[in-house]
Amino acid sequence: MAQIFPKWSNTVPIALALAGFFLLITVSGGVWYYGSPEYTDVGYRPKQPVEYSHKLHAGDLGIDCRYCHTGVESGARALVPPTRTCMNCHTLVKPESEKLSLVRRSFATGEPIEWVRVNDIPDYAYFDHSIHINSGVGCISCHGNVAEMEEVTLSKSLSMGFCLECHRSPEENLRPLNEVTNMKWAKSSDHASLAALWKKERGLEPPEACSGCHR
Ligand code: HEC
Ligand code: HEC
Ligand code: HEC
Ligand code: HEC
Ligand code: HEC
Repeated sequence: MAQIFPKWSNTVPIALALAGFFLLITVSGGVWYYGSPEYTDVGYRPKQPVEYSHKLHAGDLGIDCRYCHTGVESGARALVPPTRTCMNCHTLVKPESEKLSLVRRSFATGEPIEWVRVNDIPDYAYFDHSIHINSGVGCISCHGNVAEMEEVTLSKSLSMGFCLECHRSPEENLRPLNEVTNMKWAKSSDHASLAALWKKERGLEPPEACSGCHR
């Protein structure tokens, strides 16, 4: 009689049992890992005082991130734009819009709009935008595809593990310096060799020692 199952199939039950065992470990490990405080915040999307949409402004209209977040290349903070930046356009664009009434009031009174903070790390950890942007790490690596978001959502944990994962091997997250804000930039098939070159050319040595981030 022809053999229906090949010989190696005898070991399948053992393989399945082992796979099940490892799956159990991974699942319980995963719950422990993702259930720890750092991860519960991913998806955080507070209601903002004005219905400002990144999808409309940065996506459809294609306004560069740096037009509003003027600090990213030069300082630690990216900065959220003052009302004046909005009024560069909105004195003419939709000047009567109900959705912009708070913006107009803020401009008239000088009282800043109280945007609710989304990304936040504790003060005992040091972070600087400019060093990352000037190394060729794109906004998307840490903030996700903001140009597709109606409302900004926390998309990465920003935990110590998240920082360190990239610091150990940043290559996957490097890109040409003039593409840091481009949400549509895609890696080419020779990314690995390009990234190795960029890392060397730019002299990148992300700190892994505690004192690098806890100063
Ligand atoms: C026209 C101005 C404007 C442009 C262009 C713009 N933003 Fe923003 N951004 C804002 C404003 C206003 C806020 C605060 C309100 C909010 O969170 O929606 C903000 C908030 C953010 C936040 C969250 C800040 C926090 O509290 O953690 C991130 C991240 C961000 N922007 C990234 C980007 C990226 C990436 C781009 C380019 C793809 C971009 N922005 C383009 C105006 C802008
Ligand atoms: C470069 C020009 C430009 C800048 C700067 C800009 N906007 Fe806009 N905004 C637009 C355009 C264009 C529209 C779409 C108007 C339309 O739908 O016809 C729009 C639409 C809006 C709307 C929806 C209005 C409605 O009635 O549907 C809101 C709210 C808004 N912007 C808020 C902001 C805020 C807050 C800022 C500053 C952080 C800002 N905009 C900066 C050009 C701009
Ligand atoms: C390597 C990771 C990383 C990259 C790349 C990055 N950010 Fe951030 N961003 C952060 C972290 C971490 C915070 C919170 C900082 C804090 O709490 O001090 C933050 C905060 C912000 C904020 C809130 C306001 C502020 O200044 O803290 C804005 C706006 C922002 N980022 C925009 C951007 C834009 C635009 C880019 C790309 C040009 C960008 N970020 C690239 C990690 C990153
Ligand atoms: C996606 C990759 C990536 C992520 C995520 C990332 N970094 Fe970095 N970081 C880099 C690279 C690349 C450099 C190297 C800069 C250099 O050597 O010039 C760097 C450098 C630094 C430095 C050294 C700055 C200096 O003054 O020398 C600090 C501090 C730092 N990162 C903190 C953080 C913190 C805190 C986080 C997490 C919130 C973080 N980084 C997340 C890629 C990343
Ligand atoms: C690349 C940056 C970076 C490096 C290097 C780093 N840390 Fe952190 N660390 C962080 C950030 C960011 C946080 C805040 C995480 C959060 O918000 O939960 C943190 C949090 C912590 C905390 C608070 C408890 C916790 O787990 O949230 C301790 C303790 C700590 N770090 C110790 C260390 C020690 C010890 C080292 C060296 C072995 C080290 N860190 C290296 C970025 C770093």
